Amino acid sequence: MRPRRRSRCSETMTTSEQEANDAPVGNAILTEALNLWYGTFQALFDVNLEIKEGIITSLIGPSGCGKSTFLRSINRINERLGYVRIDGKINVFDHNVYDPAVELIQVRKQVGMVFQRPNPLPISVRDNVLFGHSLHTGGPRTPRSEQDEIVEESLRQVLLWDKVKDRLASKATELSLEEQQKLCIARLLPVKPRLLLMDEPCSALDPKGTEAVEELIWELRGRYTILIVTHNMAQARRASEECIFMLMGRVVEHAATEEMFVAPRERDTADYIEGRFG
Ligand SMILES: Nc1ncnc2c1ncn2[C@@H]1O[C@H](COP(=O)(O)OP(=O)(O)OP(=O)(O)O)[C@@H](O)[C@H]1O
Ligand SMILES: [Mg+2]
Repeated sequence: MRPRRRSRCSETMTTSEQEANDAPVGNAILTEALNLWYGTFQALFDVNLEIKEGIITSLIGPSGCGKSTFLRSINRINERLGYVRIDGKINVFDHNVYDPAVELIQVRKQVGMVFQRPNPLPISVRDNVLFGHSLHTGGPRTPRSEQDEIVEESLRQVLLWDKVKDRLASKATELSLEEQQKLCIARLLPVKPRLLLMDEPCSALDPKGTEAVEELIWELRGRYTILIVTHNMAQARRASEECIFMLMGRVVEHAATEEMFVAPRERDTADYIEGRFG
């Protein structure tokens, strides 16, 4: 197994931290012979991937190569379209998400998704954070004090608390785009997902917003497994530990990010990251 990039210099770690850091890393996502068709058009070909738990993996490749399709297969969003056919296996934390015995609600609880354009609900900031939580807990209403804690903790995790703590009753759609995207990440957290899928989460943001959201993604590292699609090579390089390059529905290369950027194994990868196509 490839060595994991270390979060801290080993000399400054306690023994238990060192042991935890050296523990074998499991897979968050494992796919085997994954093929996907939209009607008669095949969009994914034999995708075999092992995406490790606890790290950030970026997914790169030219427009139309199947990045969003792959992401949407993992939490079964694609199946809303009646003309999608999927073949092969997708395990998320060792459960086959397409096994009829596995409930979709359980899959969705473990897997949070962030889209290109921030899509908060047109309700208050506070209610956005609590929305998923109340949906999943269903039962009796959570006491107000507990709700307050959930709201504060989630907003703190996304570095938004100080900015919005006096505006919790304002409509979420009135926040800046950067704040809206952070809120969209915050509202996933009360459900306690283990895996966050992000499909170009910075593409609608200005450079300052992009930088802020990237910084946040980096902050979340270690607490969640993150799979992030990006067209921004600098972002992939800065914000991820492993990188997957796809081309025309196939995985061309999957490696430690630094390794892929410094010495790509495949010619197509080199051409793409050096900007010769895509
Ligand atoms: N709902 C759909 N119905 C039919 N074909 C689709 C659908 N969604 C995507 N496709 C096709 O599947 C292929 C992969 O599309 P996908 O959106 O996954 O690419 P992508 O890598 O995310 O591209 P981009 O970088 O532009 O977002 C493309 O040829 C696309 O036209
Ligand atoms: Mg896409």
